[in-house]
Amino acid sequence: MTCLVTGGAGYIGGHTVLALLDAGHQVIVLDDLSTGFRWSVPDPARLIVGDAGDLDLVCRVVRTNKITSILHFAAKTVVPDSFRDPLGYYLTNAVKTQTLLAAAVSENVRNLIFSSTAAVYESSESLVSEDQKADPESPYGRSKYMAECMIKDVGAAYNMRYGILRYFNVAGADPKGRNGQSTKTATHLIKVALETALGKRPCMEIFGNDYPTPDGFAVRDYIHVADLANAHVLALSRLQGGAESFTVNCGYSRGYSVREVVDVVKAVTEIDFEVRLAPRRAGDLASVVANSDRLRSFGWRPRYDELSTIVRHAYQWELELARASRLPDSDSVNTPDATDRPVGGSYNRTM
Ligand code: UFG
Repeated sequence: MTCLVTGGAGYIGGHTVLALLDAGHQVIVLDDLSTGFRWSVPDPARLIVGDAGDLDLVCRVVRTNKITSILHFAAKTVVPDSFRDPLGYYLTNAVKTQTLLAAAVSENVRNLIFSSTAAVYESSESLVSEDQKADPESPYGRSKYMAECMIKDVGAAYNMRYGILRYFNVAGADPKGRNGQSTKTATHLIKVALETALGKRPCMEIFGNDYPTPDGFAVRDYIHVADLANAHVLALSRLQGGAESFTVNCGYSRGYSVREVVDVVKAVTEIDFEVRLAPRRAGDLASVVANSDRLRSFGWRPRYDELSTIVRHAYQWELELARASRLPDSDSVNTPDATDRPVGGSYNRTM
């Protein structure tokens, strides 16, 4: 059975493609390469460059390849960006998901896995479970929640089962060094801190130290991208095995403050770097940490759930990018049609 992975040339999609291939699936990636990389789609996966919101294209790809399962990653994903570009976020994350669903229904796709987010929740001092009422605080979170609602309604109306995976803060890189977070304009905490440690940035800022948390810094649940990728393989096999549709949190149920994360980055890299305090960033929640009981009850067993392991793998990838000359002054990093890959970025199941 071949699965279609939209956004499979991106960070989380790319790692999931590796996990799917490792598990013996056949994979077709549909990606417009707006933020993804051609090199991150390894053989034997096949890349089709195109838009997940192109109804005719998706129908044709599904029909031609007899696809019965779609994993939908293609999205805009940066919380603060969504305040500057709400229309772009609603178009990409909500409208194009509606089109993808229309294609899936018309071609009788049986299973859909959807990349959702902890940003659908409001801030919470206790662990958030999937049953907690969604109350997104950013256009990004709202756009993802709209897509969730559509998927649930479509699932109820047609013969399509879905798995909605709500990711907490995804970080780290493939432990075998085949892929990692490669965007040139990163905003995510661990990558920003590592870039600062490596001198790619003169210093970094911490946004807000007056949150109602134990040390005043915002708290998040950081999940290793490889553990998350494996959660997708598990979710897909549940659906393919006939399980009911589900919504599930993807996190470790352990929160770290921004300050604690920066300290771990300094400890792992053994590099001190300048950190400045800055005002709160729009849309940032004080605290959001997963109740992950449901995912664990599916049989998910995380392998990389130490923050220092997440940071170490991310650091190894940053060093790889630096070795491959993908430093900030190199335009090749984020060139949509770049064919160069970092040295480690190839598919090798037996490494
Ligand atoms: N932060 C800093 N300085 C930085 C970058 C981040 O202080 O340079 C802080 C943020 O203010 C926030 C925390 O670090 O408090 C985490 O920020 P990230 O940008 O790494 O991640 P977000 O929590 O904003 O968002 C991420 C994903 C979303 C997802 C969310 C779920 O980008 O897609 O996690 O919690 F919805």
